[in-house]
Amino acid sequence: MAGAALTSLGSMSALEILERGRALADRPLRTIAPERMEREREIFRRRTRRSAELHAKAGGLLAGGNEHVDPLSSPYPLFLDHGDGSEVVDVDGNTYVDCILAGGAILLGHNDRELTAAIRDLLATRTGFHGHLDEYEVLAADRICRTFPAAESVRFTASGAEANLAAARIARAYTGRKKIVKFRGHYHGWGDQFMVDLEVPGSGAFMAGGVPEEHYADTVLVHPHRIDELADVLAAGDVAAVISEPLGGESGLVPFPDDFHRQASMLAREHGALYVFDEVVSGTRAGVGGAQARLGVTPDLFTLGKGLMNGYPGCGAVAGRAEIMNTAVIGLPSGGPFAYLGGTMSGNTLSMAACLHTLGAITRPGALSAAIGVASDLVTRLNELFDASDTGFFAYHFGTIVKIEMTAPHVLDAGRPENVEPIIQRRAVLADYMVPVSNGGVLSRMGRDMVSLAHSATDNEKVVNAYARLIEFLG
Ligand SMILES: Cc1ncc(COP(=O)(O)O)c(C=O)c1O
Repeated sequence: MAGAALTSLGSMSALEILERGRALADRPLRTIAPERMEREREIFRRRTRRSAELHAKAGGLLAGGNEHVDPLSSPYPLFLDHGDGSEVVDVDGNTYVDCILAGGAILLGHNDRELTAAIRDLLATRTGFHGHLDEYEVLAADRICRTFPAAESVRFTASGAEANLAAARIARAYTGRKKIVKFRGHYHGWGDQFMVDLEVPGSGAFMAGGVPEEHYADTVLVHPHRIDELADVLAAGDVAAVISEPLGGESGLVPFPDDFHRQASMLAREHGALYVFDEVVSGTRAGVGGAQARLGVTPDLFTLGKGLMNGYPGCGAVAGRAEIMNTAVIGLPSGGPFAYLGGTMSGNTLSMAACLHTLGAITRPGALSAAIGVASDLVTRLNELFDASDTGFFAYHFGTIVKIEMTAPHVLDAGRPENVEPIIQRRAVLADYMVPVSNGGVLSRMGRDMVSLAHSATDNEKVVNAYARLIEFLG
């Protein structure tokens, strides 16, 4: 049974995850019978009438009728009213165990009492101080430097996407080179240069609508398991940086083989390129000190976001070796390497206080490891359920990131035209699965889930019951 044994980062080896994903993709797709699916949608509609009304209104006002790609979006997204700990309550009064957690941004749980009180206190006196400094910026940067092995110096940004754009610019300014190596399937935010080959390796420009080709002409794509490909690209001597999600694309959907980063970072440095970790998710979820601490690989630069501020906005940072970070000069260029970074809301006081508090809470002895224990328990229980079914589904976790693999769309090579339709179908079936799961009282981001410090074994039981409910309906 998979679930308990730890590899260097998670509960299942990269090889096993890939093999089980391939085996899953080879099996016939398990769909929900149309009449059962319609019944589930009807149950959903009956209990979420207020969400339906608000969504009808949003359709005309919000482009696309929604702000986010995180499901549940079919039949329509839910409108939430409040959250507490591991749970959220929608506008119709339904309570859910929240395993989406704002795409991973909520780390301590919803409405963390201490954090809320600290922010409330600040609201009484503080305001926007753009252009001046507030002591919280220094305290937050200091906390980052004491938490992450690679951090000597920090610049805050307003989002993870901005942090990665900043990292690319700093790397280019520092090395005087243009090319950035990106691994296929990895997500680094929606900046033009990173909008190629997202989520499904081989998908190329599929998601790059509105992005001129020349904007990603200096982004070189490499398969995540091909150290030889990386070596060939680096040998040209024009790579400024190699960037990756250290757990693998989409926070571990296609994980790297063990030892990959050690070898890859050595290769990068041999060829004068910087090694960059996008720790926007893993930084606060892989373990204390992020994936870099767990792997024992110190990147030259790394980025943070999301969980850094437990859901407060303006959450991103780029950090790394001081000598490299110092290219982010304030003022005008004076002949040396120069990378302009800006952002009115970067480093704003409320976010800095939230960052200080959140990192303080997760670095308390035992706090994050207890949450990782809850993730491990969830994965063990889910695998017991899946192993007893004939679905081939499986679960694994990296720190507090939980993956529930059910249709494995990313396993198919998106570069082959005959796979495009099946990949789209596999995603659509996965979206269907989320309706019975939510009717079972659980919010899941297509099985790409998270637990928070507020989640417990009781929540796990509800999650397992929701998946048991789904399995009952599969054809
Ligand atoms: C690994 C990774 N990098 C960057 C980002 C972008 O962060 P943000 O949405 O804050 O711009 C995300 C967001 O999902 C992410 O998962």
